[in-house]
Amino acid sequence: MSTQENAAARYQELCRLIHHHNYLYHVLDCPEIGDADYDRLFRELQDLEKRFPELATPDSPTRRVGAPPLARFAPAPHAIPMLSLDNAFTEGDLRDFDARVRRALKVTEAIDYFCELKLDGLAVSLRYEDRRLTLGATRGDGSTGETITDNLRTVRAIPLLLHDDAPDLLEARGEVYMNLKEFRALNAQREEDGEPVFANPRNAAAGSLRQLDSAITARRPLTMACYGMGAGAQGRFQRHSQMLETLRAWGFKVNLEYCRKACGVEEVVAFYREVQEKRDQFPFEIDGVVIKVDRLDWQETLGATTHAPRWAIAWKFPPRRAQTRIRAVRLQVGRTGAITPVAELEPVRLSGVTVSNASLHNWDEIARKDIRTGDQVIVERAGDVIPYVVAALPELRNGSEAPIPLPETCPVCGSPAVRLKDEVVPRCQGMDCPARLREALRHFVARDAMDIEGLGGRTIDQLLGQKLVTSVADLYTLQRDTLLQLERMGETLADKLLNAIEASKKRPLSKVLNALGIRHVGAHLARVLAERYRSLEALAQASSDELQAIHEVGPEVAESVTAFFQAPHNRELMERLKQLNVLPEPESNETGSAFSGKTFVFTGTLTLMTRPEAENLVRLHGGRAAGTVSKKTSYVVAGSEAGSKLDKARALNLPILDEAQFMEMLEQAKLQDSTK
Ligand code: IVH
Repeated sequence: MSTQENAAARYQELCRLIHHHNYLYHVLDCPEIGDADYDRLFRELQDLEKRFPELATPDSPTRRVGAPPLARFAPAPHAIPMLSLDNAFTEGDLRDFDARVRRALKVTEAIDYFCELKLDGLAVSLRYEDRRLTLGATRGDGSTGETITDNLRTVRAIPLLLHDDAPDLLEARGEVYMNLKEFRALNAQREEDGEPVFANPRNAAAGSLRQLDSAITARRPLTMACYGMGAGAQGRFQRHSQMLETLRAWGFKVNLEYCRKACGVEEVVAFYREVQEKRDQFPFEIDGVVIKVDRLDWQETLGATTHAPRWAIAWKFPPRRAQTRIRAVRLQVGRTGAITPVAELEPVRLSGVTVSNASLHNWDEIARKDIRTGDQVIVERAGDVIPYVVAALPELRNGSEAPIPLPETCPVCGSPAVRLKDEVVPRCQGMDCPARLREALRHFVARDAMDIEGLGGRTIDQLLGQKLVTSVADLYTLQRDTLLQLERMGETLADKLLNAIEASKKRPLSKVLNALGIRHVGAHLARVLAERYRSLEALAQASSDELQAIHEVGPEVAESVTAFFQAPHNRELMERLKQLNVLPEPESNETGSAFSGKTFVFTGTLTLMTRPEAENLVRLHGGRAAGTVSKKTSYVVAGSEAGSKLDKARALNLPILDEAQFMEMLEQAKLQDSTK
């Protein structure tokens, strides 16, 4: 075969492969290969088209950005196409990019670049008319996306109304993603609920946005950060960085604190290295950095190909994957009895961390990937999330590998393990299973539940081991003498713990509801239910229909809540907790709102809402929001990466709240306001 024929055959093959993987990734949200592998295929195709331009066809994957939109959402044509980015994998690639930019601009001096983090989520476009959000769309194939306005409206980081000085028509673009903390909590909840877990935060974000029912999206902890504009930018700004600052001022979340201006390629390299070093410390998953020419007139001169702008490049990080062997499979029992398999690995270094456990998710996944004990496997780590097994390498088997059987009994208490229809994991049926009780206790005392500080896993294990606690209610009858008998428990510690247990009796309803661990009711739904019912008794009486009238509550949640309150052992538990003064009384309506007359200052990045939204809520409840910290400030609310305002608040000894505490206060205020 001639070189030309070889090239043509490879070209066909690459097109087919890339189309296939595009479809899996963009349409089905179910990629089979990693980004690095996909990028390699894409580059090979690009190179081939460069060398043999006659091969390129109009429908080549290099001529479009993603996959066609799904039929079920209304198409959303983009007036200004949503482009993708070209990739750099090495310092050499980056230097080539810089050389290309300078050549095209005919400049010899160092270029001002703006460096951003490459968020690993989903690109969206938000259209605002008269400052109101009127259309939200996915990227789709770059020229037409899908209309997902209702879903995007549920993302709290997306402003529904922009500030006064925003223009009449504006299209903001950015990434919808999920923070790692929320991603882990969501997966833990899904595991307990017998639902398939998401492999990584990107899939979780994509799966959540692609819901026809926006109530489901609303329950998912999505966030969004802007990195650019479509319509509305023309002629308004000189620099990209200025545009981002203005977007932030108009009410959008922009991760400016993670960005850096870099003068010339050396400073870009320094930024990349720094970010790579800190990769595990970011609250979200990133897969590289994005480098953009800051001057907008230069961006215009450089222009774009059909695929990507010539003024920007994504410098990707190497994938965090490694090969190792599964030594054994351990079964974990969760608080609702869900039994999940965990692979015990031969320890392997994975970008600076030793990995010795990996999630196998459930038996459907095990079957789909044909994973056996003893197999050589590929493990991947996303952020500080527990690594998971991506694939087995069956070609490396020696015959000693063993299938991983579905358990018929609980590995801890021996009760039958039953796998219900529609569920991906079997569940231990033993109500008194020590493993279930252990997890239920850990959940009960957690920070966004009863928040009992000092009651860690080791103390819980001791309390259970000595049968001092057989239900969460027993925590409230613990005596000082009993605690002092525990290993490593001194008087100071015991008193601290007893105080923390006592203090937990005053938690608001939303936290108590979360603590009870009702299936499908996580922190967010607990808040929704608490807002509507205001007492546990009232909620316990609610019918399934009544519950379903709440926007975010579907039949599954409603059934689970009513079943919980009907179950005799739960009724007993409620009764006991009431006798022990644990359940909160409905708040009295005598006093004014906790916010009235108070001045709040917000600093740092909030995750649940934008700063302007938070400030509006303060005003709504009778408080004031200020921009600077002074002696007159009542509370400083510090998000992540809070800076000098937080320092000043500390210096002035002002009360400092984190976002969760602010939300709690807000809840109280809502409660009081609604009972007035
Ligand atoms: S700029 C015309 N900036 O990466 C330029 N993209 O691989 C449009 N992404 O489609 C993109 N973080 O979904 C830009 N700081 C950032 C980004 C970013 C993540 C995503 C975006 C884009 C994809 C390209």
